[in-house]
Amino acid sequence: MKKITLMVLAAALITLGAVRVKAAGKNDAPEQIFKAKCSACHSDEIALHMNKDRKGWEDTVKLMQKKRPNFISDQDAKIIVDFLVSQSAKNGK
Ligand code: HEC
Repeated sequence: MKKITLMVLAAALITLGAVRVKAAGKNDAPEQIFKAKCSACHSDEIALHMNKDRKGWEDTVKLMQKKRPNFISDQDAKIIVDFLVSQSAKNGK
């Protein structure tokens, strides 16, 4: 009986740990992609201090994609646009 209780507890802890790591990764990924791609030519601050709507960021990121072909994939661009739109919303301007 005691052994089973311990096993159940261990399984619960492992599950909790896995869920936590997954959640953290999900939140970190967009910022990491943004930092990796958007600080290659200039500081990433340039984008973080700007407020644009979705259309504005789509245009900007498209422009940046063209500056170095095959550096920012369309999939990364989409993630970066989502990230920047959410940052702009936080800035509230
Ligand atoms: C290949 C180099 C390069 C990369 C990579 C790059 N940029 Fe730029 N960026 C530039 C240059 C050069 C300028 C100077 C102004 C111009 O030409 O538009 C600039 C200007 C900007 C500006 C100011 C002008 C504007 O249109 O608002 C923003 C904001 C910006 N970049 C955001 C980003 C973001 C976001 C990313 C990542 C998706 C990125 N940049 C990646 C080269 C780059």
